[in-house]
Amino acid sequence: MEREVRSLKKSVDDIGFIGKNLISINDLTNEQIYKLFELAYMVEPWNRSKLNVLPGCQMATLFFQPSTRTRMSFETAMNRLGGMVITETTPLITSSSAKEETLNDMMEVVSKYANIIVLRHPDENEAMEAVSYSECPVINGAFGHFEHPTQSLLDLYTIWRMYGKIEGLKVCIASPDLIHARTGHSMAYALARLGADLYMASLERLRTPESIMQKVRNFNSKVKEVFDQSKDEFNEFISDMDLVYLPGCSAPKGEDAEEFKKIMDNYYVKYETIERAFKANKRLYVTHTLPRRPGEMDLRIDKSPGEIYFKAILYSVSIRMALILSMIGL
Ligand code: CP
Repeated sequence: MEREVRSLKKSVDDIGFIGKNLISINDLTNEQIYKLFELAYMVEPWNRSKLNVLPGCQMATLFFQPSTRTRMSFETAMNRLGGMVITETTPLITSSSAKEETLNDMMEVVSKYANIIVLRHPDENEAMEAVSYSECPVINGAFGHFEHPTQSLLDLYTIWRMYGKIEGLKVCIASPDLIHARTGHSMAYALARLGADLYMASLERLRTPESIMQKVRNFNSKVKEVFDQSKDEFNEFISDMDLVYLPGCSAPKGEDAEEFKKIMDNYYVKYETIERAFKANKRLYVTHTLPRRPGEMDLRIDKSPGEIYFKAILYSVSIRMALILSMIGL
């Protein structure tokens, strides 16, 4: 075990991310992303047991928006590493945020208890300002409509585990609304940087914001946008991909809801599309960042070889273990 810990420490030091914050996926270099994959692979044997290398270290998870996966996966990762977790899942009710304490003050205070903080917040500007008040490293657990960098890390790691590479893969990020898809934004940056052939499929009126597309194109000039496909056109289009990436979207409520549901239907992934690909010996994986809503894909895909959204759940623990180690150190 001593030899394993020494080897882990070498890998952690080699990443060069101790004490840093992870706010955007672009805070990591390509080399650091690949080194994180290698570290995640090293700790993978412990993602269902205990490695116990961070005793006495504490994580605080501060979630101002609901979460199942991000919070529990981080908490599981910290527990697997032998650390401890304190959490606020309803800060607007149970913390002093309910008494109008500012997020800046909360971060300053909590960072004196914690060695690392994971923050999810609906307002990206407020969240980003508050990060500077923390004395310990902070992980963006999804800020507003900005980014969700660890979702893309876990999805990239899952792809790397399935294909052994990212470069050259054909990936379609698809959602009717790519304005508000924070997971889609992080993933677009990362896939473009790592050399995937990237396609962004959405409604033209809800296309990825130009500020994001400009950066994405600077990383990789081959990125394409495709708009306003019908269901058949969309399924025909994705049948040529290696991966369909569904970042989900928040359907509007009220009078626009029914109309939007009809549009969403055009981005429905058919079971037959996936089945046909695998029958022709072509791997066509589907991932969804989850939670998903009825009408986004045929649920029979869950039991098909194309499913990787549930496979990604366990990989998320490995990559988050690696990330925590790389930020706290050994
Ligand atoms: N994918 C994701 O962020 O899920 P949660 O909202 O459940 O954390």
